[in-house]
Amino acid sequence: MKKADIGLIGLGVMGANLAMNIAEKGFRVAVFNRTTTRIDTFVEEAGPLAGNIVACKSLEALTVAIERPRPIIVMVQAGAAVDEQIAALRPLLGSDDIIIDAGNANFRDTRRRMAEIADSGPHFIGMGVSGGEEGARHGPSIMVGGPEEAYRRIEPVLEAIAARFEGEPCQAWLGPDGAGHFVKTIHNGIEYADMQMIAEVYGILRDGHGLSAREIAPVFAKWNEGRLNSYLIEITAAVLSATDSGTGKPMVEIILDRAGQKGTGRWSAIEAQSLGIPATAIEAAVAARSLSAMKDEREAAEQRFGALQPGAQPADEQALAVLEQALLAGKIVAYAQGFAVMAAASREFGWNLPLGTVARIWRAGCIIRSQFLDEIAEAFDNAREVENLLMTPAFSALIESSQSHLRRVVARSAEAGLPVPALSAALAHFDTFRRARGTANLIQAQRDFFGAHGFERVDREGTGHHGEWHQA
Ligand code: 6PG
Repeated sequence: MKKADIGLIGLGVMGANLAMNIAEKGFRVAVFNRTTTRIDTFVEEAGPLAGNIVACKSLEALTVAIERPRPIIVMVQAGAAVDEQIAALRPLLGSDDIIIDAGNANFRDTRRRMAEIADSGPHFIGMGVSGGEEGARHGPSIMVGGPEEAYRRIEPVLEAIAARFEGEPCQAWLGPDGAGHFVKTIHNGIEYADMQMIAEVYGILRDGHGLSAREIAPVFAKWNEGRLNSYLIEITAAVLSATDSGTGKPMVEIILDRAGQKGTGRWSAIEAQSLGIPATAIEAAVAARSLSAMKDEREAAEQRFGALQPGAQPADEQALAVLEQALLAGKIVAYAQGFAVMAAASREFGWNLPLGTVARIWRAGCIIRSQFLDEIAEAFDNAREVENLLMTPAFSALIESSQSHLRRVVARSAEAGLPVPALSAALAHFDTFRRARGTANLIQAQRDFFGAHGFERVDREGTGHHGEWHQA
């Protein structure tokens, strides 16, 4: 029997869909799952694609079934399960084979795993895959990090299974080491900010303008036809239109306001802090999710401080246009922050991350896919020396024209007591960033006052100046 082109371990939602995608593109894929009964159900679900699937009931069988050098995708839960899988596979593989971790790994784990097996092999690739179930099945966005020569061997498969934007496959080798998983982490950090800002605007429409979910749905549907066109805006309109058949109520109204998180958003914020790069819109989004989880405490606080009085501001065309522009401005800052974190990580770890390519492979397939990312790719391509999205000619013009709307929305929300943590973090970032003389002169003075830390002067060289503080 003809050997398989590639192997895949882990037939959960993402793994199963990815395996189907691979089989559909004409590659033979050998599959294994720890709970082996799942292998049989998977083959049944594959229907006509089963001809390209080699069901293996053990890891040994899997490794025998694949053509050498053997690429094996591992799609198991991030964390200890990946280490266990690598440990189980290593004795069965040669130095030329390739283990591809396609889960949402922390890039620090990926770096460690690569270092651990670097001497004796096999090759190790950390591959970020975005797009959820649908993406995995019909075309995800794929962010690869690790040894380039190993990537080149699996490139034809990745190219075939990836999403396409105007014919271009949304997959790329982004750099050595943990580059792929780092970029996936920041993708998710931006995803958190994007989702949070959308939720904040939903909150303004619901609590400030008194609109129902069914009235808000068409607002997002209309925005999806304009500048904000994106998958997340599209699904927001769809979500807001959905009805719970049991109660007849809009689905969103019967869903608890407490969202979970698996870690990638938090890692984005942690890495941004470690690198000393402000990613405040992303941080605010992560914190908002944590605060959402504190349901009991929020209920007690509402008891103590009183409930928000529902507003009934008219949601006329002008008000909606201001909100649309505010969301755009907030989004620009969040993306600028995410890209700045990637640029800093690239310097820190010597990855040489191609920021334009990152934007390009996010244009389709992934959760934050949008027209906007095409504009980001173009902005970086047209201004190669500029690392900060806010300073590219295209986006500086866009933030210039939209920032006053963000200011208006944040100011009015603050007055009304409507929480807009990510939008206001974005505005604060922009206002701080654009200011040539800030207020850290006072911070420097305070540090010197209490700790003799020294400061720089505006009129002399050197860092060790001290103030004459204790003059009585
Ligand atoms: C994607 C998603 C995917 C997943 C996240 C959700 O790019 O396909 O980001 O990775 O949905 O893990 O993360 P939270 O559970 O933290 O919201």
